[in-house]
Amino acid sequence: MRVQVPGDKSLTQRALILSALAEGESRISGLLCGGDAESTAGALRALGAGIPEIPADRGAIRVQGVGLGGLRSTGSQLDLGNSGTGARLLLGVLSGGAVEAAMTGDESLRSRPMRRVTEPLSAMGARFDFLDEGGRLPIRVHGKRPLEGIEWSTPVASAQVKSSILLAGLTGGASVLITEPEQSRDHTERIFHQVGVPTESRAVTDGWRVEMRDPPSRISELDFRVPGDISSAAFLLALAVLGGTADSLEIVDVGLNPTRTAFLEVLERMGAEIAVETDGHDEMLEPSGTVSANVSSLKGTHVGAAEVPRMIDELPLVAILGARAHGETSIRGAQELRAKESDRIDALVRNLRALGVDVEEHEDGLTVLGSDRPLRGRVEAFGDHRIAMAFGVLGAAPGNDIEVDDPQASGVSFPGFWELLRELGAGSAA
Ligand code: S3P
Repeated sequence: MRVQVPGDKSLTQRALILSALAEGESRISGLLCGGDAESTAGALRALGAGIPEIPADRGAIRVQGVGLGGLRSTGSQLDLGNSGTGARLLLGVLSGGAVEAAMTGDESLRSRPMRRVTEPLSAMGARFDFLDEGGRLPIRVHGKRPLEGIEWSTPVASAQVKSSILLAGLTGGASVLITEPEQSRDHTERIFHQVGVPTESRAVTDGWRVEMRDPPSRISELDFRVPGDISSAAFLLALAVLGGTADSLEIVDVGLNPTRTAFLEVLERMGAEIAVETDGHDEMLEPSGTVSANVSSLKGTHVGAAEVPRMIDELPLVAILGARAHGETSIRGAQELRAKESDRIDALVRNLRALGVDVEEHEDGLTVLGSDRPLRGRVEAFGDHRIAMAFGVLGAAPGNDIEVDDPQASGVSFPGFWELLRELGAGSAA
């Protein structure tokens, strides 16, 4: 079976933001048409960018950019819904514009830490009023232009933090140098390159360093195609490996940026029968290709801190696969999972226990003991798309029967997920 997955969520957000900041008309296609993309597009429209409706068929749209200093203040509160990436990246964008705006989000987003971006952005000269609880949304941003340059070390490898600072440097005309403990996904650096903003990246003794010196005062229009989201493809690969598809599965046009592909390596290590074929591409563009998977017998594995940033969004799936593998599967050095759309360590532990799986919780991860007994019961999504979908996949594996309390949570990144799950499974042993 050959399928496609929705457009990459990280790239969609960046394509929308950069095309809004370009001068003139950009052409972008392949976008995710899901909740998180809608939230970012809606906020950019309120700030003055000409963004048409995102088409459901991943067709092209033309965006009228306003230029790096062209966003306007808005009296209405920007609602970023569930999107942590949208919120943190836009806090950076707004910091370097001479604009004021207030930003909020849904219950999950309002509980997530924002100081990790407001601290460096304040050091650059922007001001923030926390309108409710300190360090959380809603926040009013008072941007400033120009901003001061910054050298910043982040304690967690986070592409959202890195990108927020880079975007502030871009709109605020300031040089930035960021050091993170491990390299996080480099989509912002690649798309910057495409609009004529060079950055330099390299390994250093204390991690990974990204530098942008003397950013330009304008960026060129974007002509960009977003590939399918590897983080969405991961759910279908896990489904096929667990035997939840009627046949072997081939997913075409999936993003294969090497800062995102550690899950494929872990799948192989667990004994999964998968194949990856990369389409030809220019080194600085986003690589993409085809990934295939077959039902496989799995063995447990260990995922540690060094791999975590390259598969941060796929870790719930590793736990799910671990529940069906021979032996123990452990995830450590993944404290960051507690600050996602839900506390994903807590969510995984509670749900796996509710299904009778033997699981141990750690502050920075979990250890799961695999078994092949049928897993049945009801689990909670905790308002988190990836928790809902991970248990959807486990429930679709042969012999299991799992009800997810809020399946619609998947809509922010993978509209049509449940229909596709049923379609792929039709005729399988599940
Ligand atoms: C994202 C970065 C990751 C990831 C999120 C998307 C991005 O967050 O979990 O889904 O687009 O930059 P962190 O960089 O904060 O880990």
